[in-house]
Amino acid sequence: MNPPPERLLLELRDGTPVIVRPLVPADRTLVAEAYRRLSPEARYQRFWSDTGELLGDTMLDRLIDQDASRHVTWVLLDPAREFPGVGGASWWRSGPAAREAEISAMVLDGDQRRGIGTLLLAVMWLTALRAGLDSLVGYALGDNRAAADWMRDCGASGHWDGYKLVFRWDLHNLDTLPETPAAADLAAWLAALSPELLENR
Ligand SMILES: CC(C)(COP(=O)(O)OP(=O)(O)OC[C@H]1O[C@@H](n2cnc3c(N)ncnc32)[C@H](O)[C@@H]1OP(=O)(O)O)[C@@H](O)C(=O)NCCC(=O)NCCS
Repeated sequence: MNPPPERLLLELRDGTPVIVRPLVPADRTLVAEAYRRLSPEARYQRFWSDTGELLGDTMLDRLIDQDASRHVTWVLLDPAREFPGVGGASWWRSGPAAREAEISAMVLDGDQRRGIGTLLLAVMWLTALRAGLDSLVGYALGDNRAAADWMRDCGASGHWDGYKLVFRWDLHNLDTLPETPAAADLAAWLAALSPELLENR
């Protein structure tokens, strides 16, 4: 297998040029600073506890410690900004032979609803397929309307398990994507990024 591409140079739907690439150990400061810039609400929605402005070393290690078959994190950067970090997404395989992984995503508050979460989902989808996974599952707190709507509008099937919302994507079945703008965006990114992230590998 070839090494992953260093970076994808893409445009958001509003024309903003962005870099999308895997997280590397040198990004430790970037991740900590992006975390500091999140609203308390967004931090709580992502980490399910009141973590304050500082992301602990354990979580930083966990995010940065990549392995293409077990855990992948990609970030989206706007190189025109003084602080370029805008969003990131990860998947974690539930066990060495598991065919499913848990996905999580985070976009800075002021950059939400620009299609960034959906672009990162497409990258997670293709890197997960590349690792031999069949499905991605995302969890959200019951009051996390943004995440629930995002996952549902991007075609995940969801249910309430009594404690949290559980959403699942079947990575082999694009036919069940709903007729929403977000699902159309997702399908377009999957088609555009497949040659680089999946087919030519
Ligand atoms: C969930 C999250 C990652 C979505 O990222 P995003 O970049 O805003 O998502 P997109 O712009 O790609 O949204 C795509 C579609 O999802 C739906 N959606 C996203 N956020 C929504 C919201 N707040 N309310 C209603 N629908 C929403 C819409 O259909 C949207 O399309 P539209 O903007 O054209 O109407 C972002 O809200 C976030 O970082 N939240 C805090 C962290 C978190 O909760 N993470 C848990 C996810 S596992």
